[in-house]
Amino acid sequence: MSDTSDKDQKTFTLTNDQTGESCKLPVHDGTCGPSVIDVRKLYAETGHFTFDPSFTSTGSCKSRLTFIDGEEGILMHRGYSIEDLANKSSFLELAFLLLYGDLPKPDEMSEFKENITYHTMVHEQLNFFFRGFRHDAHPMAIMCGVVAALSAFYHDSLDIWDEKQREISAHRLIAKIPTLAAMTMKYTMGQPFVYPRNDLNFSENFLHMCFSVPAEEYKVNPIYARAMDKIFILHADHEQNASTSTVRLAGSSQANPFACIAAGIASLWGPSHGGANQAVLEMLDQIGHKDNIPEFLERAKDKDDPFRLMGFGHRVYKNYDPRAEVLKVSADEVLSDLGVDNDPQLQLAMELERIALEDPYFVDRKLFPNVDFYSGIILKALGFPTSMFTVLFAVARTVGWISQWKEMIEEPSLRIGRPRQLYTGPAARPYVDIDKRK
Ligand code: CMC
Repeated sequence: MSDTSDKDQKTFTLTNDQTGESCKLPVHDGTCGPSVIDVRKLYAETGHFTFDPSFTSTGSCKSRLTFIDGEEGILMHRGYSIEDLANKSSFLELAFLLLYGDLPKPDEMSEFKENITYHTMVHEQLNFFFRGFRHDAHPMAIMCGVVAALSAFYHDSLDIWDEKQREISAHRLIAKIPTLAAMTMKYTMGQPFVYPRNDLNFSENFLHMCFSVPAEEYKVNPIYARAMDKIFILHADHEQNASTSTVRLAGSSQANPFACIAAGIASLWGPSHGGANQAVLEMLDQIGHKDNIPEFLERAKDKDDPFRLMGFGHRVYKNYDPRAEVLKVSADEVLSDLGVDNDPQLQLAMELERIALEDPYFVDRKLFPNVDFYSGIILKALGFPTSMFTVLFAVARTVGWISQWKEMIEEPSLRIGRPRQLYTGPAARPYVDIDKRK
């Protein structure tokens, strides 16, 4: 194989060791990050597919939204560092940036805020939809259902080829998913639904819908609201992860955006992805005491034991997760502001982090705490039940999913996604009648 540069087009030549035949493939450069070898003509020219089951070497699309450098621990949205965005912007500002490509000017921001604020209510009929679920249903199970159901309520924004309808659907999803998430929490707690309030900002309104009750006035703590907003910013988008790829693949068949986002929510649910924030707290409960840490670290290293250290490791980040760095500082601030820096579970988490970061198994495999290691700790301090953690991730990631979906639909070369496979089942064989089978 060789990487050569023609006059205009960089190419990569692939040679078949058996036949000596070679195939020249175009190489494309992005703005940052590794170049890609364009294999779209590989099958037509060689009769071979590429094989990359977990997509460790495959770029599935072009995107202008998010850049990650896993070795350097860099995360940028549209060129802005996650550290700057987390410390200087707001979640809605980031939502605008992801959807439209640039930071909003003041008048654009006011208009966007108004658009989101005035779409936060859901169709009243959705209230009754919730009653179909058992009270002890997992909140993510409810979210998969109610978000998918949105496509049955908003028929006027389902035409994906109409730019205005795409935009209204995006606004509806960003505005209504927090309302549905808060309703889900209330439903599982047996409390009445709380309607949104237009005088509050995005994160204040979300906390209001989650924590207020009709019996008394609820004042949003500004420290809580800022911490919530930061968690939303840090989870807003993360390139072509499992749930985002799910949204894109569903969308490539021209399914409506509400259905695509519901597919993303289902994909996020698993403990290897968004479900890890819940799993971190459950793991800390399971470990129980710092004296038990060595036993659980041994279990995490044992390949015959399914136990993994939740909140550690990442497919792309191999040095540190920049979101975790920001959240770690935020966790310290929030917890000391809330006076819970002596929380035994937090102390256990910090001790686990310290011991794991010194352990050769974790050092050699470059396993560092990821964003979910710290987010669960903050969310618990804010008063959310553990089972809601992944739902909160979904609220934030909706912005990334819908921006990625919109970018894909607006791509002129859009085609349905259709991976191929390496078939390893039986070769062709004759059908045997049932009475003749041995
Ligand atoms: N605990 C123990 N060992 C681990 C862990 C862990 N959390 N993560 C990876 N390893 C080991 C793994 O067994 C393998 O060892 P070996 O080379 O000896 O076979 C090596 O490290 C490489 O791991 P991998 O499974 O090939 O890595 P992956 O890229 O397929 O998986 C991951 C990435 C995030 C799914 C995995 O690290 C994991 O399961 N972590 C725990 C779950 C978690 O915290 N997920 C949240 C990810 S961040 C939020 C998000 O993006 O959703």
